[in-house]
Amino acid sequence: MSSLLQTPEWQALNALMLSDGTLHLRDLFADNPQRFEQFSRCDMEMLFDFSRQRVTQPILQALIKLAEARGLKEQIRAMFSGGVINTTERRAVLHTALRADAGRKIVVNGQDVMPAVRANLEHMRAFVEGVHGGRVRGVTDQTFTDVVNIGIGGSDLGVVMVNEALARYRHPGITLHCVSNIDGSQLADVLSKVNAASTLFVVCSKTFTTLETLSNAKIARQWLVDQLGDDAVSRHFVAVSTNDQAMDAFQIAPENRFTMWDWVGGRYSLWSSVGLSIALSMGMAHFEALLHGARIMDEHFQQTPFENNYPVLMGLLGIWNRNFLELDSLAVLPYDQRLHRFAAYLQQLDMESNGKRVTHGGEPVECDTGAVVWGEPGSNAQHSFFQLLHQGTARTALDFIAPVNASSDYQGQQNLALANCIGQAQAFALGYTEQEARHELTARGMDTETIERLTPHKLHLGNRPSSLVLFARLDPTTLGKLIALYEHKVFVQSVIWDINAFDQWGVELGKKVADALVSVVERPETAPDGLQGLMGYVKRWRTP
Ligand code: F6P
Repeated sequence: MSSLLQTPEWQALNALMLSDGTLHLRDLFADNPQRFEQFSRCDMEMLFDFSRQRVTQPILQALIKLAEARGLKEQIRAMFSGGVINTTERRAVLHTALRADAGRKIVVNGQDVMPAVRANLEHMRAFVEGVHGGRVRGVTDQTFTDVVNIGIGGSDLGVVMVNEALARYRHPGITLHCVSNIDGSQLADVLSKVNAASTLFVVCSKTFTTLETLSNAKIARQWLVDQLGDDAVSRHFVAVSTNDQAMDAFQIAPENRFTMWDWVGGRYSLWSSVGLSIALSMGMAHFEALLHGARIMDEHFQQTPFENNYPVLMGLLGIWNRNFLELDSLAVLPYDQRLHRFAAYLQQLDMESNGKRVTHGGEPVECDTGAVVWGEPGSNAQHSFFQLLHQGTARTALDFIAPVNASSDYQGQQNLALANCIGQAQAFALGYTEQEARHELTARGMDTETIERLTPHKLHLGNRPSSLVLFARLDPTTLGKLIALYEHKVFVQSVIWDINAFDQWGVELGKKVADALVSVVERPETAPDGLQGLMGYVKRWRTP
């Protein structure tokens, strides 16, 4: 692909940065009473309000032209039709097939993948209904009350996030626990709470080679065998993986294996059998409503003109913020505690996808790529890091997300949350001028010296750009739309930057170095040069 920075579309945006990019949101709102109408969209029962982004109509049009020039339309088509867009791994990218209309045909390597997708969904359904109906039981004939998902990264984050977000939809007879981390404390906490006879383990690993997952799963298996004997393994362990050999070695019964495919990336996999634990927690109907929500966003993404297309607009606004306003992080701020793991989920989705420094062709990128994504639910966040966002020097874009209706029975509380969400977005955009500060301090009866001293501290520069995604309530369909929105936004940005959003070579080196150190940590005296000092402390402080 030709140089991004030399394209007329990029140059046009550079010019607009000089003319429109320094305008203040306070003035943009004051000068245009129609700003909300012009810079918001309502579709799919979801409002996307980007009136507080620092864009003008010419900027928006220029961003859309950039997307067209980068071949976004063709790339969207390629992704949905099974094109090999994961170029380094030579794979199609078809998480969208997992939520596609059952009647569709999607061909990969000459084969329609949809019959296998449907068969897998039916396998999940039979199993989930078997567990919920008490037909699938443990080795002592007890029904299952607890499910432990053992997985990490894409085999954990989506499961945890959805299970938290949709807590109201959980099946009353099942408690889902998730174990991901390597240090053992999460596993110990879960094993101390559950009863072996009524616990089902789901070992979730696309590769079935991941150190964290396999080591935790082995401890869990031993814990089970110690209490219920060897025969219990085939009744209490199921697995989600593409690796049959490794599942053989782990003694996963053939009927307890749930498959996935190399065209589903880990961080895009909650729609696949990785969603088994979600379905066990809340039932197939809610899991399928989640798929349905994602399908609505998929159709919108494929069919809607760019100027009204949510993922396209969100992606392009991110490009403007990252490459022109030079904001190097994105804070995701849901005003619903149920979404407390949403930012963590997005961190893998966005940063593992777009944390790249070479193009598809292996050339160094010419501009910054993925921003740092982080966040916490409001209003907790207001009492933690908002000070820095309002008055600090860090450069951050903000995504506010909020349901109008409460995810609890306390609507009055959600009204307060909403007032805070919108109020904060306004404050970030409009700021607080010197004149306003002086006026306030004078009205409070302060003397001139105090007013002079405090005024600089009271200033809020404002012009902090944010978007707001507002919807009626956080239900499975809406959550499906929201997740797919961010998936496609990440894809849009990867197309503009010409990077591969579907590989993750960057995680390999650290794993390799760590693997080589496992025996050294066991026996610190074998430490190589450069690590002897550090390993000396491990030896000195480890309790024998
Ligand atoms: O962290 C790297 C990674 O490969 C992720 O992309 C993936 O989601 C995670 O590890 C877990 O992989 P697996 O499902 O194969 O255990």
